[in-house]
Amino acid sequence: MYLQVSACWCVHRSSTPPSRTVGSSQNYRHWVYTIPADHRFFGGGAGIVVFWGVLSRARWRMHSIRLAVRSCSPLVCGAMTDPGTTAASAHRLPKQTQRYGLDLHLWQPEEAAALHAVIPANVDHLRPYMAWIALEPQTLDQRRELLETWAADWASGGDLTVGIWRAGQLVGSGGLHRRPGPGGLEIGYWVARDHLNQGIATAASRALTDLAFTVPGIERVQITHDVNNLASARIPATLGFRRLPDRPSCIAQGPAGTGIEGLWQVTKDEWRVH
Ligand SMILES: CC(C)(COP(=O)(O)OP(=O)(O)OC[C@H]1O[C@@H](n2cnc3c(N)ncnc32)[C@H](O)[C@@H]1OP(=O)(O)O)[C@@H](O)C(=O)NCCC(=O)NCCS
Repeated sequence: MYLQVSACWCVHRSSTPPSRTVGSSQNYRHWVYTIPADHRFFGGGAGIVVFWGVLSRARWRMHSIRLAVRSCSPLVCGAMTDPGTTAASAHRLPKQTQRYGLDLHLWQPEEAAALHAVIPANVDHLRPYMAWIALEPQTLDQRRELLETWAADWASGGDLTVGIWRAGQLVGSGGLHRRPGPGGLEIGYWVARDHLNQGIATAASRALTDLAFTVPGIERVQITHDVNNLASARIPATLGFRRLPDRPSCIAQGPAGTGIEGLWQVTKDEWRVH
């Protein structure tokens, strides 16, 4: 029996990820540390996250540290899990899929200009529920570094972060993230405001779910969203995911975040008959 606690912080400049980094979401990285549940030294068995190095490393901005502290209460983030699956030991995720009229592929550094054109035009649209928007504005070089970080993360067996392209046009971004731990992947997405309500997030999530279940050992796919993010909730509902009990959020949230996230899941068997 183990207790898992997680932390998240922003990557202000590209850097070599710590060895226990198991997931990332846009500029934010999620760090998961697994300790024996009976390790009483860590706050009565609840566990604590020690942000060693945080204060000494200038690339981690203070606001993200505050978010991390808020989101890392072991009492709310704790989960019994089996240790041993880290990015290094996991299968590398497939890097692309073309389905349902969309092209989803691992972000490439040379695509930074496309991202740089879309994000500034969508800051207000994305700000409420996307914590990383707090890092805007970013330079083109910073975006290129970020895409390099994502590519390196994928290459080392970590998350798959993709651009969502339709007819050659960038319409959003998404990914398969390892946050759920062994056997699971979590889908993330955003769509540019000029392309909303055209079924893009739903189609992209359908394609990513298909893709996730091609990965050996993946038995469940999850989608989470702030409980107030009703548009986001429609995507897993439409795709036939089952809603599990809401839970405190363990990742950095945007300013509209309530701290409570809706959690949806589909298993491989359920998806097969869907
Ligand atoms: C959430 C988001 C990704 C949806 O993208 P999209 O491509 O427009 O999604 P789809 O067109 O596939 O589906 C949207 C669904 O939400 C519904 N919807 C749209 N706005 C809504 C609102 N304000 N309240 C409730 N439902 C809403 C649509 O009617 C549709 O539902 P339906 O399929 O039952 O008709 C997009 O709004 C977005 O990028 N938001 C900002 C970033 C974000 O919140 N990302 C998700 C974080 S968990």
